Amino acid sequence: CGIVGYIGNKEAGKVLLDGIKRLEYRGYDSSGIACIENGTLRYEKAIGEVVELEHKLNTNPIIANMGIVHTRWATHGAPTVENAHPHMDCRCEIAVVHNGIIENYDYLTSYLEKRGHIFKSQTDTEVLAHLIEENLTNNLEEAVMSAVKMIEGTYGIAVISTKDPGKIVAARKGSPLIIGIGDNEYFITSDVSATLEHTRNVIYLDDLEVAIITPDNYETKTIENITSLKKIEEVLWNMDMIEKSGFQHFMLKEIHEQPQALQNLMRGRVDGGKAPIKLGGLSHCEKDLLAVKRIVVIACGTSWHAGLVGEYMLEELARIPVEVEYASEFRYRNPIIEKDTLVMAISQSGETADTLAAMREAKNKGAKVLAICNVVGSSIAREADAGIYLHIGPEIGVASTKAFTAQVAAFYLFALHILLLRHKTDPKVPEMITAINSIPGKIQKILDREEEIREMADAYKDKNHALYLGRGFNYPVALEGALKLKEISYIHAQGYPAAEMKHGPIALIDENMPVIVIATKDATYGKILNNIEEVKSRKGRVIAIATEGDEQIQGKADHVVYIPDAPAVLTPLLSVIPLQLLAYHMAVMRGCNVDKPRNLAKSVTVE
Ligand code: G6P
Repeated sequence: CGIVGYIGNKEAGKVLLDGIKRLEYRGYDSSGIACIENGTLRYEKAIGEVVELEHKLNTNPIIANMGIVHTRWATHGAPTVENAHPHMDCRCEIAVVHNGIIENYDYLTSYLEKRGHIFKSQTDTEVLAHLIEENLTNNLEEAVMSAVKMIEGTYGIAVISTKDPGKIVAARKGSPLIIGIGDNEYFITSDVSATLEHTRNVIYLDDLEVAIITPDNYETKTIENITSLKKIEEVLWNMDMIEKSGFQHFMLKEIHEQPQALQNLMRGRVDGGKAPIKLGGLSHCEKDLLAVKRIVVIACGTSWHAGLVGEYMLEELARIPVEVEYASEFRYRNPIIEKDTLVMAISQSGETADTLAAMREAKNKGAKVLAICNVVGSSIAREADAGIYLHIGPEIGVASTKAFTAQVAAFYLFALHILLLRHKTDPKVPEMITAINSIPGKIQKILDREEEIREMADAYKDKNHALYLGRGFNYPVALEGALKLKEISYIHAQGYPAAEMKHGPIALIDENMPVIVIATKDATYGKILNNIEEVKSRKGRVIAIATEGDEQIQGKADHVVYIPDAPAVLTPLLSVIPLQLLAYHMAVMRGCNVDKPRNLAKSVTVE
């Protein structure tokens, strides 16, 4: 979900719609807006993308200088107009937009119903509007403070009321909120992309804090009504980074940005010399890193796949045992954290609720947590003990691409960093640095073959299933390739360790089953060729991702996509590229909304 609030001199309707469109990647099943127009509360809601709301407002524009807007990713209640935010109190004097989940909403609903409140939606959010109504005499922030104290769960909210007009009150617990500070105008948003056009000066609200913004001032307090002083920070992202820049979709733009993204990640960190890895975010914890005996990686989705590659890298290069856990599983199974266990939280957005909760659980158990994040100032980045930022600019396409390769590259640098911390010098390191430095150019070579991959996509676009196989470092890439395809094309796809195919998936293979095999020249190449034979002898269609110069594979696979040679440990950074492009083109050919696939959201801030 996404939230934007505005107060200033401009036409609020336009500012709010422009802002919320930037956040649509966070949820897009319905949207709604509220403002105070001539002393009365006006609201509009629409199902579907924000453009539907825009159509409604075109016929009846908003005339106001302040308001709030929301785009929804349904949790409680189907995506209907009634369930779209904002939600109002009984008298329609208060409007609330909310990200998060109110866990005790059943209890609160019956409490409020007994007090005469009538509910219009099936959402958990509506209780907030009624709770604020219960507490509101004429000071909105005090009513909000009282209301949120009754809530169990998470919230990022923005509230307006005709009873205390001329201000927006926002509050946060577990769901991000940022105040944007412009020239005589202020914003509230759940994501800086919404305000970049107007200002790069922001304040990050902390949990259990409230912001009160008026046309000429802002104030932050704790929910106990104690003033809190906050630092104004400058966001380093710019407008170009959040535009499509001529690409048809953000996903395609982000796929093509990968060479540059990896260069940005490595800039200033890899100098090819004797002490080549500088990871500033880790400088204060070198003693802890020296002592680490075991690493537990926690993440979700694509970040979890990057964690799996990280596991192979850290074990191979730094010789530290690593386990990779789904954050949602880690949290609920009483994990064992010993004195020398390091927990690594991997998250592009830094806001994924399961990862954040797992990280807090790890900290409660005494673990040091190191984060790999992209979004500066995000909750995970701020709560971690140390971290590595990706510095790759915003990722907007819901299906993650450049964040995956950057996370994998960050793991590589981290593994080399540990290796050097422990051994001071290692004769293999300069070669390893040269190898990663050459990766951006090699990715570019694969991107230059996009047309070839597009033609291949055309041949397979009508299939209903696909199997992805890989071994070793490329097993997680098989998982990631399958995830990309199912997320955006809705083709059922499964990733598997190649050798495991014979223990189950082989039963599915017939002439209709495309099997994408990562068959690069490494230690398991011979075995992978055997797996390809097993598929072919059951009439499966094989697309092989192979190393340039490998002619042997031509006679075995139906299609071959070549990628440049690289040390096995770095091949995931290359082999994933054709799989991203294949998924992208198949989805486009099937008429799917690539940047906003159905039912998904970019950042899942609910558990
Ligand atoms: C959602 C996104 C995925 C992403 C996952 C984890 O499911 O759609 O693309 O990989 O969340 O997100 P994070 O921001 O924690 O990496």
